Amino acid sequence: MHADKVKVVEVGPRDGLQNEKSLIPTETKVALIDQLTDAGFPNIEVASFVSPKWVPQMADGAQVMAAIRRRPGTIYSALTPNMKGLEGALAAGADEVVIFGAASEAFSQKNINCSIAESMARFEPVAAAAKAKGVRLRASVSCALGCPYQGEVPIDAVVDVVRRMRELGCDEIDIADTIGVGTPDKVKAVMLAAATEFPLAQLSGHFHDTYGHALANVEASLEAGIRIFHASVAGLGGCPYAKGATGNVATEALLQRLASLGMQTGVDLDKVIAAAGLISGAIGKPVLQ
Ligand code: HMG
Ligand code: MG
Repeated sequence: MHADKVKVVEVGPRDGLQNEKSLIPTETKVALIDQLTDAGFPNIEVASFVSPKWVPQMADGAQVMAAIRRRPGTIYSALTPNMKGLEGALAAGADEVVIFGAASEAFSQKNINCSIAESMARFEPVAAAAKAKGVRLRASVSCALGCPYQGEVPIDAVVDVVRRMRELGCDEIDIADTIGVGTPDKVKAVMLAAATEFPLAQLSGHFHDTYGHALANVEASLEAGIRIFHASVAGLGGCPYAKGATGNVATEALLQRLASLGMQTGVDLDKVIAAAGLISGAIGKPVLQ
């Protein structure tokens, strides 16, 4: 990727909505995704094929994916924690599946009900099947900057999971600050350490903005050479298994900051603002200005 080009992955329809308590109608999710598609994102995370008992909001992933309008060139991604999830995502026509592990044992247990080692064993057949089908494979590494249960997470633990994800054949790996505790120096150090095991150009920054550090962390990552960032329209979101964590960096804010730094994304900010208005109205949350 060119030095001033950034890929923005819109994760609002998944990470943004998964934490909403009242069930959002499928049509509203579809309308949101269609607006985001029109805004020109190269990649949108649209669904999770996880247990509906664990995350009821994501139970309609298949219906959502069947109803959205797809733009050629946009990658529509879905989370797949195990083979059951993978089968659902493939049947729904996901272009990319996302296995999600953690650098913290405690978070792995809370989020996906197994140890890090067990999660890797579960991901193995998922990764192999995705590759066999020619579907892109991405991995998220949660709690790469800190954990709500265990606190500090050593950089070595992040690097170890990144290495194992590389061995599974991942095309892209997300370094995720699940609870927004990362600070620019630490983020840069983690990115550079992760890059010892995986190509820098295929690493991404997934920053929740709990303490308002996300944009500073994006800038620190840019300095380290990262050119892929996740963001959530209207700054929605959080993880049901990371109490108190707020949403991802707002897409509108990320796009404005990247533009001010001379970075190109190919995404239409006005259309994202319109999409933010739609979803904020639908779920009764204020729109960011
Ligand atoms: P488990 O209970 O250990 O799984 O859950 P199990 O295999 O024993 O199955 C238990 C039940 O779940 C069975 O149903 C399965 O059929 C069903 P029952 O027999 O009881 O009726 N089941 C499924 N149903 C639908 N789709 C599936 C599936 N798998 C099992 N794929 C499991 C393990 C991983 C499934 C569970 O822990 C789970 O679904 N966790 C959800 C975690 C989640 O979605 N978290 C939020 C997303 S991650 C995130 O937000 C972080 C990220 O943004 C990065 C960051 O910020 O850090 C990515
Ligand atoms: Mg997240």
